[in-house]
Amino acid sequence: MKTPTTSFAVRAALVAAGVLCLSGAVLGADAAENWNKHCASCHAKDGSGNTKMGKKLSVKDYRDAKAQEGFTDDAALKAIKEGAKDSAGKETMKPFAEKLSDDEAKALVAYVRSLKAK
Ligand code: HEC
Repeated sequence: MKTPTTSFAVRAALVAAGVLCLSGAVLGADAAENWNKHCASCHAKDGSGNTKMGKKLSVKDYRDAKAQEGFTDDAALKAIKEGAKDSAGKETMKPFAEKLSDDEAKALVAYVRSLKAK
């Protein structure tokens, strides 16, 4: 049983990541702000997709590791910029290329990754 050690390491890494975020400009705060403003209406603040719109559009639960493995960082960035379509080609997530800068979109990819359950 080395669970306690692992979780300590994970926590230490998270703290380190948090510190990095803070020192690397205000990226962290911006991404969270953008997420809550532009994305949470469908994906929910916690990334669960547990919203009226999220359920209607059957968004995945991004707290789930399997859902996270379902797309690459590039695909996530593309979805944020160009939007997402369902299998019938109907737009489900609108493109955010005009609302978000490149850096903001990239920060949101990292933010989405951070929603994964720890
Ligand atoms: C109108 C509802 C809606 C909004 C608003 C929305 N999305 Fe989505 N998003 C979806 C749907 C529907 C999908 C496709 C199903 C899925 O993968 O969960 C999706 C897929 C994704 C994916 C996965 C792409 C892939 O290739 O699987 C990411 C990452 C994502 N959204 C991030 C965001 C971010 C970041 C924002 C805010 C800038 C956002 N979404 C806003 C509905 C929305």
